[in-house]
Amino acid sequence: MTRIGILTSGGDCPGLNAVIRACVLRGIRGYGDEFVGFIDGWRGVLDGVAVELDWRSVRGISKLGGTILGTSRTSPFEEGGGPGRVAAVLREHRVDALVVIGGEGTLTAAKLLHDEGIHIVGVPKTVDNDISATDYTFGFDTAVEIATEAIDRLHTTGESHHRCMVAEVMGRHVGWIALHAGMATSAHAILIPEQRASIEEICDWVRKPFERGRTPIVVVAEGFVPEGMNHAHSERGLDAFDRPRLGGIGEMLAPLIEKGTGIETRSTTLGHIQRGGTPSASDRVLATRLGMAAVDAVHDSAWGTMVATRSTAIVRVELVEAIGKLKTVPQDRYDEAFRLFG
Ligand code: F6P
Repeated sequence: MTRIGILTSGGDCPGLNAVIRACVLRGIRGYGDEFVGFIDGWRGVLDGVAVELDWRSVRGISKLGGTILGTSRTSPFEEGGGPGRVAAVLREHRVDALVVIGGEGTLTAAKLLHDEGIHIVGVPKTVDNDISATDYTFGFDTAVEIATEAIDRLHTTGESHHRCMVAEVMGRHVGWIALHAGMATSAHAILIPEQRASIEEICDWVRKPFERGRTPIVVVAEGFVPEGMNHAHSERGLDAFDRPRLGGIGEMLAPLIEKGTGIETRSTTLGHIQRGGTPSASDRVLATRLGMAAVDAVHDSAWGTMVATRSTAIVRVELVEAIGKLKTVPQDRYDEAFRLFG
């Protein structure tokens, strides 16, 4: 029997509860484990706030969005934290190993704690799909489905009014959601953080379909930086990690497109709708498989690793492979989409 701590950290994402359930059920059934859930990510570890998790606590939660444990963008190295504090809290709760479910920041912290001897296994999570060393992260499929449905809806209203419709999706540093939802909805321009484009080019991509009697659709990732700007558009200050809060690039572009083309243009920011609600079937399956694999990794003492996807297989990779460099949209994937712009 091993006593395993679980936490969810960083921005939430559909599928987190399916991971928690799979960990707990795999551990109890396969190994006779006990589980402790730390509340609100690393905050719960630093403050020593945790709940016991048994099979009743995870009954029926795979289909629920969010996380039953809560989350925060707290770093375990914040004031009063660090490896000593983390180790002391784990000892207090008789926790032998920690399963950490999070994005790049969380996994980086996990790697540093692992270097200090804390028994940690990581599970990658993010709607942005930007973590290296894994093909896909759960939450991404759901976000793309939500964005696709929304853009299809924008299309019909745009068509009625002969307008250009701009849809802003999430994607701080990478444009995976924009690329997939844009391709799925036959968008006429897909603007992503990895690629610059000028307002003139964007106007050209809008004008051409309009002249063919089509409703121009522009999908823009929140982190897109148009030529002539130095930073992603941000007007809402900094988040807990001192990163600019993004959002609003669509609203910024719409009047410029309208001015440059003479076509009435509206923008919609999908925002957190993409992260909320029921996970897709595919994300539930992925999250369940990753959760079970994480507990198996604990029992193999595979400390400092992360469970990941390689094609259809679940594999283990060193945490160090997953951090430091984001998985951006490669040039050939952008070029592929670019051929159908305009
Ligand atoms: O989790 C990633 C992400 O959704 C980014 O795409 C976005 O910039 C950020 O989180 C928003 O964070 P918050 O929920 O803290 O506003």
